[in-house]
Amino acid sequence: MKILAIESSCDETSAAVVEDGRRILSCKILSQIEMHKRFGGVVPEIASRAHVEAVVPLTEQALAEAGLGANEIDAVAVTYRPGLIGALLVGVNFAKSLAYTLKKPLIAVNHTRGHVASCYLANPELKPPFLALVISGGHTSLLHVKSYTEYETVGITRDDAAGEAFDKAARVMGLSYPGGAEMDRLACDGDEKSIPLPRAVVKDAPYDFSYSGLKTAVVNYLHKLDQTNTPYRKEDVAASFTKAVCDTVTDRLSHAIDDFNPPALVLAGGVSANSHIRRAVGELCDKKGCPLYLAPLSLCGDNAAMIGSQAYYEFLEGNISDIRLNAIAVSDKFVN
Ligand code: KG4
Ligand code: ZN
Repeated sequence: MKILAIESSCDETSAAVVEDGRRILSCKILSQIEMHKRFGGVVPEIASRAHVEAVVPLTEQALAEAGLGANEIDAVAVTYRPGLIGALLVGVNFAKSLAYTLKKPLIAVNHTRGHVASCYLANPELKPPFLALVISGGHTSLLHVKSYTEYETVGITRDDAAGEAFDKAARVMGLSYPGGAEMDRLACDGDEKSIPLPRAVVKDAPYDFSYSGLKTAVVNYLHKLDQTNTPYRKEDVAASFTKAVCDTVTDRLSHAIDDFNPPALVLAGGVSANSHIRRAVGELCDKKGCPLYLAPLSLCGDNAAMIGSQAYYEFLEGNISDIRLNAIAVSDKFVN
């Protein structure tokens, strides 16, 4: 079954064709980062407009690269939640029109489930049940994936997502948006013990996360240095900050692996591209004897191939949408 998938929830427009949930026939991604950079973050109106301009040509390219005419696809899939509402609406309305005119099934996909599915594309043997940690610019969620379409949220961030904190720390150091990848590179040459930063725990919620305190701590630390014109090494800040994130991630995962004894752990989302986090979680999983599944760096960020993968399993479960499908902006505890 060949599914044409569309992703437009934030600042990447993407169209892909995926076969039977596991094989990428094509995946085109157009990043808007250059457009948002000078504002230091994503400007929702600019994002929506850019999606409108990109979605048709990208879809044509994805079909051409897959060697398929529009009528040869079996279904149309689209990210319908969560994300920026204006951005989501572009993809949802486009996918609805396409499915309607081609008379093909329409499949609505949750973006967070899509991130998990990026690991199906890279690991043919991976199948639920497993535990998954999705860490990105918009989410930090620990999920019990009971089957391809049955999700239970085990832990969630109470405030900022990990990626949001990475980007903020980077911004205060004058790095360009989104600074996560640059923080990763800088951290390789820094001293992770040089700056004391907090590792928040959420009372009575051993699997929950909180990154706003860490974000504020690093911002205050840098402001104080700026006010007194004290020089600092960005590498040290990046290394100390990254270590704090690694520690919170491995702490929550360590408890969860002990308590759930999962057959596997999946790490996905934009921040899962971080080399230090990948290494730290890899070491933890080795110690616990729990197989770890990751996506290649090319599939960690937002892309439509992961949406096409999850869509296949939604289809098999009978989760088909129709012309009444609407976009939903908010993220909530239920990954549906
Ligand atoms: O999954 P994604 O593309 O979008 C959302 O669904 O949010 O994630 C983007 C986030 C940004 O915050 C970006 O800075 C972060 O992923 N990111 C990284 C790295 N690469 C991307 N954070 C830390 N280290 C990286 N190597
Ligand atoms: Zn994402």
